[in-house]
Amino acid sequence: AATGTTGGPGKGSSDGTLVLGFAQVGAESGWRTANTKSVREAAGKAGITLKFSDAQQKQENQIKAIRTFIQQKVDVIAFSPVVESGWDTVLKEAKNAGIPVILTDRAVDSQDTSLYRTFLGSDFVKEGQEAGKWLLKEYEGTSAPVNIVELQGTTGSAPANDRKAGFAEVVKGDPKFKVVASQTGDFTRAKGKEVMQAFLKSHDDIDVLYAHNDDMALGAIQAIEEAGKKPGTDIKVISVDGIKDAFVAMKDKKINVVVECNPLLGDQLMDLVKKVAAGESVPRRVEVQEGVFTQDQAAAALPNRQY
Ligand code: AHR
Repeated sequence: AATGTTGGPGKGSSDGTLVLGFAQVGAESGWRTANTKSVREAAGKAGITLKFSDAQQKQENQIKAIRTFIQQKVDVIAFSPVVESGWDTVLKEAKNAGIPVILTDRAVDSQDTSLYRTFLGSDFVKEGQEAGKWLLKEYEGTSAPVNIVELQGTTGSAPANDRKAGFAEVVKGDPKFKVVASQTGDFTRAKGKEVMQAFLKSHDDIDVLYAHNDDMALGAIQAIEEAGKKPGTDIKVISVDGIKDAFVAMKDKKINVVVECNPLLGDQLMDLVKKVAAGESVPRRVEVQEGVFTQDQAAAALPNRQY
């Protein structure tokens, strides 16, 4: 995994600048690129030295990066866990070293919540519920079966688990909604396209695609078009994130609805870093504000999209 430092000298150096070790998931999506940019810029603005590591979507790389940060005696560690499970050992190592940990964007399933100080990010279950609510409204008053295919995010990740669960919880109340296929597309465009191609081969009656992120939806749209169908019309498309490319696709009527997931966490993260480093108390959970956007709002919203 690539590790780099931006900003001034850190702990142990004469100027006493705060040092933040940040272990990022990777660069799998437009959302992630925007998230990384936000963290880097906010660290610069806040005068915090950032040691940045890109785990290339591999948990073992993230664990290695966290261990390196512990050895380097950074002041605070923040990371966006690739998957939810398997963090206790390394988090205990950070705790024993006296280094506070902040979870950003994705949660862990550790029972011992003293292993991290706070979580900053989205309510992924709510995002899944919003996707389901849009579908319920779209098919209100109809009784014909609605066949849904689902492109899941990275297996075992919090957004994949929660977006799946939130959506299922809302649509399960009406038996006309049937998830006929559900598979991971690993949050990438290439995988989204590949898996959608397979879905289209094995199901000729798909009404709706629910993609756990925009990149997979955009890849799937290519597959739908190559199969001679109209995305947004023949197959309705529900997506999550709200990157600019998805708004363009929504303006072009290829995506029907986007549930926003906000990656611009940098400034809030730096505030939390300063507070935990100073020993101040912080809320256990800090959630970001998010909306839901439909085709009729896409053109007006596009110029204001920040990512
Ligand atoms: O954890 C947030 C998710 O990770 C975003 O929805 C997805 O695009 C990213 O890769």
